[in-house]
Formats: sequence, structure tokens, C-alpha cells
Amino acid sequence: MRTQVAIIGAGPAGLLLGQLLTKQGIDNVILERQTGEYVLGRIRAGVVEKGAADLLDAAGVGARMHREGLIHDGIEVAFGGERHRINFRELVGKSVIVYGQTEITRDLMEGRAAAGAPTIYEAEDVSLHDITGDKPRVRYKKDGAEHEIACDYIAGCDGYHGVSRKSIPDSVLRSFERVYPFGWLGILVEKPPVSDELIYASHERGFALCSMRSHTRSRLYIQCSLEDRVEDWSDERFYAELKRRLDGDAVARLQEGPSFEKSIAPLRSFVAEPMRHGRLFLAGDAAHIVPPTGAKGLNLAASDVYYLWRALSEFYKQGSKASIDAYSARALARVWKAERFSWWMTSMLHRFPDSSGFEQKMQQAELAYLVSSPAAMTSLAENYVGLPY
Ligand code: FAD
Ligand code: PHB
Repeated sequence: MRTQVAIIGAGPAGLLLGQLLTKQGIDNVILERQTGEYVLGRIRAGVVEKGAADLLDAAGVGARMHREGLIHDGIEVAFGGERHRINFRELVGKSVIVYGQTEITRDLMEGRAAAGAPTIYEAEDVSLHDITGDKPRVRYKKDGAEHEIACDYIAGCDGYHGVSRKSIPDSVLRSFERVYPFGWLGILVEKPPVSDELIYASHERGFALCSMRSHTRSRLYIQCSLEDRVEDWSDERFYAELKRRLDGDAVARLQEGPSFEKSIAPLRSFVAEPMRHGRLFLAGDAAHIVPPTGAKGLNLAASDVYYLWRALSEFYKQGSKASIDAYSARALARVWKAERFSWWMTSMLHRFPDSSGFEQKMQQAELAYLVSSPAAMTSLAENYVGLPY
């Protein structure tokens, strides 16, 4: 088989890139290790920046997001028993859309099926070859048979545990990492959200977040220990702990119901540089991870895809490699700013197990400064709605 761009991974990064390329008549094949149902079963991000929403529109798959997504003009930051609103619209004139990653993935999969572009699910043992030569190839197994795809370029959109980043030699790749000493325990529940907007709560027992997927579905998180297991947390225990961390009004509004999804995610900051090696590009979680506190993971995958799409389309339409050569530096410049914001939000809002009295005082001062200073609130707002591409 031959294609122009071989894409590894059918998460949001791979599917979005595929859809944008297909729209421009650039051939591509997606190889995905899992089944489509499995990919759709993973509950992940919920907040979409304007830039990412524009890209979904450009890919022709934004209609349902505009119909069903919820426009949020701000968030609430809670501490010391009180909630403080950060009004994005007033501070920076922008808003975000609350619309689940699962729904984005479904819209992209349907768009791809309608366009007739090929996705090979359950592709096993994907391996990358000759990435520094002129004729890279991708090999995989499907139903016991070996296959090979010859291509011009490979887009490694296969997430943190994928094969693409590992195909770049250690002598070339530099990575930077911070692992946080806690995780997030999250549940999905068929109950209306606690508030019209997301509540990010800092409490001495740990962080909590009241998010949502719709007017009738809540997504709730609490900071937990890395030793905790999902089985340790009955719904009763989860709600009891969440209520301890919320203000009185939020507790009064919280509607408890049986969870239909419950999972623990560890928190990590990670960046691999460069994001291009020869004819291989990395995009999304394959190149970087952020802790979810800034709602940036999915949005960063989208901005990488934007730069990569522009670069590939400039090459195929105008024969110029300038943006291909600039891809890694352009993407990383934005990645590092989102890493900074996610690290800052995480550091400000969580309880660190071994923090000293001084560090706790610094967190309190940071929060007090944030909600008292229009300059500080503007900085949060500008980053939360998404820095320009
Ligand atoms: P992924 O979504 O990881 O997609 C990569 C795809 O590649 C997967 O489908 C995988 O099966 C496939 N793949 C992997 N290896 C191979 C291989 N060898 N061959 C072929 N295919 C392969 N972000 C937020 O903003 N808010 C959140 O609440 C949030 N929660 C998260 C919870 C979890 C458990 C995780 C892991 C991430 C979460 N994120 C969150 C981050 C956000 O979901 C990611 O940033 C986003 O999914 C990145 O998209 P991606 O396409 O780059 O990678
Ligand atoms: C979510 O709804 O899953 C969500 C929202 C905001 C975050 C993280 C997760 O910062």
C-alpha cells in the first residue's frame, strides 16, 4: 500500500489531522492499535478552546459541537469557603466550549467514514522504518498477516505510550518531566452540574473539580493518593470527600447519583524535543503531557495538528518545505507556554503531601492575589481560553 501521510493513532490528534488532510485532497491512512469502540470508551477531556473549535469547523465536523456544546464565559475558583468568578468574556473577550473528547472523537470518526478515508483498527506491532531517508515505511500486523505502507511522511499521533516517540534515537530526543505526587479520581454521573460553570476548588484536604458534559451530566474529580485504587472508592465515599472540599452553597446544590464511570489518572508534565525527526512528526500526547488542571491536553493536540496540517499542505500545494522545517520549533513554543500554565494551576490548587508551612502560605497568597487582581485574573483567563496559534 502507498499513501502520502501515514498517521499512527486514531485519538483526537490523528483523526483531526486525517480529516484536515483529506479535505485538501492529501491521501492518508490511519493505523490504530485498538478498536473504534475502545477509543470511544475512554473518558477524557471536556473543555475546548476557540482555536480547537475553529479547527474542528475547518475539518467540517463542528456542527454538533456548536449545537450541543455549552459556551462558558468563565470559571469559579473556590477556597476558604468562598467562590470567586473569573470572567473570561469581560477580561479577554473570549469563552470556551464544554464538549467531551468522546463526542469530538465520534464526530471525527463519522466525518472520516463519510469521506471514505481509510482507518485500520486493531493494527498490531506497528513499526516505523527509514524515517530519516526519502522513503519511510510503516509496518503492522492485522489478523495475523503482515502489511507495509510506503509514504512520504509519518505523523506520530499515538499518545504517550505509542511507538512513534520511541522510534527517535536517544541521541536525538531530549525529554523533560515532572511527576506529581497525587492523582485525580473522576466520576461521571447522570445528574445536573453543581453550578453553571466549572468550579476549581483548593482545600486543605486536596483539590476538587466540578465539571460537566451537559445540563444533565456531571463530571466530578477529587485529588487522590497515587496508592489509591478505584475499588477503594465507593460512590458514597467519593461524595463524602468531595463535599468536605466544597463550599456550603455547592454542597447544597450537589445532586448525588450512581457513577457510571470511575477512573484514576496520575498527573504528569512531560515534553519531548524535537517534535520532528527526519520524515516523522510527533503531535499531541506522543510529544507532551500536561496535568489536566489547565484543561490543555486535548487543546495542545489540536494546535500541534494545526501547525502540522499547514506545513504538509504548504509542501503538497506549493512545494515548500519551510513550514515542515519550522514545525518543531513552532509547536514547542506554544507547548511550553501551556506546560507552564498547567504546572502553575496544578501547583496553586493541589495539596502537596510534603509541603512546608511556608509553601502552603505561598499557595494561599497566590490564590488571594489571583482573585483580588484584575491583572492576575486576566493572565489566567488569557491562558485558559487558549493562547493564539
Ligand atoms: P490519544 O488520545 O492518547 O490517542 C492516541 C491513540 O494512539 C490512541 O487511540 C491509542 O490507542 C493509539 N496508539 C497508541 N499506541 C499505538 C501504536 N503502537 N500503534 C497504533 N496506535 C497506537 N485532558 C484534559 O484536558 N482534561 C482531562 O480531563 C483529561 N483527562 C485525561 C485522562 C486520561 C486517563 C488521559 C490518558 C488523558 C487525559 N487528558 C485530559 C488528556 C487528553 O485526553 C489528551 O491530551 C488527548 O487525548 C491527546 O490526544 P492524542 O490524540 O494526542 O492522544
Ligand atoms: C473535564 O470536564 O473532564 C475537565 C474539565 C476541566 C479540566 C479537566 C477536566 O481542567
